[in-house]
Amino acid sequence: MTKRITERPRRLTGPLLLSPVLLLAAAPAAMAGDAAAGAAAWVQQHPQPGGAPARSCATCHTADLTRPGEHVRTGKPIEPLAPSVSPERLTDQAKVEKWLRRNCRWTLGRECTAAEKADFLAYIRAQ
Ligand code: HEC
Repeated sequence: MTKRITERPRRLTGPLLLSPVLLLAAAPAAMAGDAAAGAAAWVQQHPQPGGAPARSCATCHTADLTRPGEHVRTGKPIEPLAPSVSPERLTDQAKVEKWLRRNCRWTLGRECTAAEKADFLAYIRAQ
């Protein structure tokens, strides 16, 4: 009698433990990003208020990520973003998050969505 009772909850734990594992497995696929969408967003011009010139990611990084860029305001050179040329690119998650936050705010006037960031990263990673 007691054996039957203790077996019941054990059967339930199987599917309950599996579901978080399945969610974790699905997460990277959802954030994989679309490189083509990232490429289009990269050169998209964002009009600025007050008659300032429109901005895009290419304003500082250029449209060719294998080439060095130049900070449009400070004139400082920026190493190419393409990992094929600069292997250290996209290797430091904290740095990537910090600069995406800053650059999205400066360029788009707001933070990028998770999907937009994933698209940008998919595009950069492929260069
Ligand atoms: C005003 C100039 C400027 C603009 C515009 C700009 N960036 Fe940047 N970006 C920088 C600077 C400066 C750095 C940090 C210096 C460096 O890493 O060479 C940087 C770094 C980055 C990094 C970090 C890469 C790494 O792992 O080292 C990413 C990713 C990035 N930018 C993406 C973008 C995206 C996406 C946009 C458009 C939404 C954009 N940037 C627009 C200046 C700019």
